[in-house]
Amino acid sequence: MFLLLGLCWWHLTGVFSEKLSVMEGDSVRLQTKMTKLHEDDNILWTYSKSLIAKISMEKQIFSTFDGPDDRFRGRLKMDKQTGSLTITNIRLEHAGEYGVKITGEKLTKISFGVSVYARLSSPSITRECSSSSQNNCSVVCSVVNVSAVSLSWYKGSSVLSSIIVSDLSISLSLPLEVEYQDRNTYSCVINNTISNQTTHLDINTLCQPCPDEDLHLFNIVWICAAVGSLLILVSAVMCCISKKCRKTVHNCEEDQSDSTLCKEKSRKKKSDMQAVYCNVPKRR
Ligand SMILES: *[C@@H]1O[C@H](CO)[C@@H](O)[C@H](O)[C@H]1NC(C)=O
Ligand SMILES: *[C@@H]1O[C@H](CO)[C@@H](O)[C@H](O)[C@H]1NC(C)=O
Ligand SMILES: *[C@@H]1O[C@H](CO)[C@@H](O)[C@H](O)[C@H]1NC(C)=O
Ligand SMILES: *[C@@H]1O[C@H](CO)[C@@H](O)[C@H](O)[C@H]1NC(C)=O
Repeated sequence: MFLLLGLCWWHLTGVFSEKLSVMEGDSVRLQTKMTKLHEDDNILWTYSKSLIAKISMEKQIFSTFDGPDDRFRGRLKMDKQTGSLTITNIRLEHAGEYGVKITGEKLTKISFGVSVYARLSSPSITRECSSSSQNNCSVVCSVVNVSAVSLSWYKGSSVLSSIIVSDLSISLSLPLEVEYQDRNTYSCVINNTISNQTTHLDINTLCQPCPDEDLHLFNIVWICAAVGSLLILVSAVMCCISKKCRKTVHNCEEDQSDSTLCKEKSRKKKSDMQAVYCNVPKRR
């Protein structure tokens, strides 16, 4: 019994495990550690225990399979020389446990833990007008729809502030206040385990007076100007009209002529009113 077990163990020449981290969209090569396959080698590749590729040297079979939910369709490439398997254009859903079992003269088992990381896009920095104080410029660094990342503000090479999110796919934003005359270098960095992206803060360009406020002020000035001139125009017209009328009434009363006539006449148009004046003295 012991001898048998011993013999089996002797045959089992290797059990290995590897961890791999790859970026979404990249290709990853899972290697068998063999430089050349032997005549009687059999190779089975699995992903989460389901068969995704198979080689039988004896029968000259080299097959790949689409795997669970066809998720490997068109992505698997087998190396007939070494039995290595390449996954092209890898996606987040291809993360997980891969295994290869090679049986021939020897038995070799290798397991691969593959982590796939999303490609990061550069964070964006925007001016925050609502919370600006007089001497400082407020900005916000933000990223949308991210998971398993850190977002940080750097001043030179030291971290000023940082937030970390785990698996959730969410949007993040991180504020920063700088003085207008600040000459330091500020940058916002997003990173996951294997990559990072940086956006530099350009204080001169970004920290201009808030465009919204400007526009608002501009509009208010224009509206005030328009309303003001309209009011002046209206009151000028009113003034003229009332002056004319008062003058007419005044003249009529002075003449001590028939007041009903005056009232009647003064209600009439401008040309008639002038006619009233000219006529009254003549009648006297
Ligand atoms: C957010 O990311 C997930 C995958 O991480 C993707 O399926 C989804 O379409 C994204 N949503 C937006 C609005 O970009
Ligand atoms: C981002 O990078 C820092 C080191 O620069 C590291 O400590 C941190 O874990 C990284 N963030 C993530 C989410 O992996
Ligand atoms: C302006 O920002 C500096 C840091 O850049 C900070 O020390 C200071 O307290 C801020 N002032 C105000 C009024 O928020
Ligand atoms: C970003 O990644 C580069 C390598 O791509 C590395 O040299 C650098 O230190 C990283 N920066 C940060 C802030 O993690």
